[in-house]
Amino acid sequence: MENLFADTAARADRYLKGLSDRGVVPSTEAVDRLAELGGPLPDAGEAPSEVIAALDEVGSPATVATAGGRYFGFVIGSGLPTAVAANWLASAWNQNGALEVMSPAAVKLEAVALEWVRDLLHLPAGARGAFVTGDTLANVTALAAARHAVLADAGWNVEVEGLGGAPSVTVVVGEEVHISVLRALSLLGLGRGRVLRVPTDDQGRMRAEKLPELRGPAIVCIQSGNVNTGSFDPAHELCEFAHRAGAWVHIDGAFGLWANAAPGRAHLAAGANEADSWALDGHKWLNVPYDSGMAFVRDPAHLRAAMSGEPAAYLAADGRADPMNYTPEMSRRARAVDTWAALRHLGRRGVADLVERCCRLAERFAARLRDGGAEILNDVVLNQVLVSFGSEEKTRRVIDLVQRDGTCWCGGTVWHGVPAMRISVSSWATSEADVERSAAAILRLAQG
Ligand SMILES: Cc1ncc(COP(=O)(O)O)c(C=O)c1O
Repeated sequence: MENLFADTAARADRYLKGLSDRGVVPSTEAVDRLAELGGPLPDAGEAPSEVIAALDEVGSPATVATAGGRYFGFVIGSGLPTAVAANWLASAWNQNGALEVMSPAAVKLEAVALEWVRDLLHLPAGARGAFVTGDTLANVTALAAARHAVLADAGWNVEVEGLGGAPSVTVVVGEEVHISVLRALSLLGLGRGRVLRVPTDDQGRMRAEKLPELRGPAIVCIQSGNVNTGSFDPAHELCEFAHRAGAWVHIDGAFGLWANAAPGRAHLAAGANEADSWALDGHKWLNVPYDSGMAFVRDPAHLRAAMSGEPAAYLAADGRADPMNYTPEMSRRARAVDTWAALRHLGRRGVADLVERCCRLAERFAARLRDGGAEILNDVVLNQVLVSFGSEEKTRRVIDLVQRDGTCWCGGTVWHGVPAMRISVSSWATSEADVERSAAAILRLAQG
């Protein structure tokens, strides 16, 4: 064991420092070498140093450089070094964050981190948060609370009785709903195929005036941060209309809700704090290590009713605010430590700067590509840029060339029927130089 952790830290340090000099995607040879990590399980074990050496020497080169500054695919953050270091220490602690009696440290840090996030994002005082693996599960968690509340209002205890024979729940989403919300609805038995879809405008925003008349148990799912354009549904109008009909409003704000932490962008999420529940990620824009999502619910009683099951004697359910009673999980890592460390390191101003810097870099990216002859398809209001290079065929070809070139990585999408390159600037590590270098590479490949 001697030097195991110091040696591993040195390897990690070397890996991170080497990212700016390597291609964003691994070479075919590096990926092929992964076979060396497989094969039949050996009978005899190996020394710790040899296990780590194999992982680093074969595994590291086969990673995608998402921890660096030139990865613009999907919506992917890098790990802030302070958060990564905190994550290592918390792994050494190996705490179970289910119950306070199992880990006062994990539970305290979770409560502090959730309160800091609630405050930063201007969510209502008293709203209860829960750390989960990611935004998809945060949608499941928050929508379970929604399902509980709207059915309890109709006199139905869904946790005990199930959905058979329950009053029908109307679920409304926008045309541009993220698939994770639909997945959450299907997991909860609310049915992804029976949702009512509200038309959206040219930026993907729900048109509030098209919301259907609502009667009986109803949940309206809106989003802060469209995964393609970065646009926001008009939360204030939608909440007002839905609440008048007694409906629950849930916001999927995976990355976009962080706009609320930056004074220059918070107007985009205006009205988001009027909703009843929210789902978001830490592993996207806050740049904490995977996996880290958060659900918040305005009235903690609904979350608790949806999450806590039958009490078990050995778990000593004594009514304290144990995380286990507010999340779908029981045993869980001390996930909140990473977020606590990121927030303590950045402070309020640091989070605002991170969000604002990414938005500015996205604007710069868009300007460079536009100057180079590309067409920008969206209003670049946040950190997302949609690019067309003329014909559908050429846009697809440029995306393919960029992905193989390795200077940077951008994904593809189809926006209102048109293939487009998606650029998401979400990493603390991205610099102006990274954007210049990446835009130049994209334009060179588009012209070649
Ligand atoms: C708007 C939105 N919702 C949900 C998700 C899913 O998040 P996760 O992969 O953390 O579950 C994403 C991912 O990009 C997203 O952009």
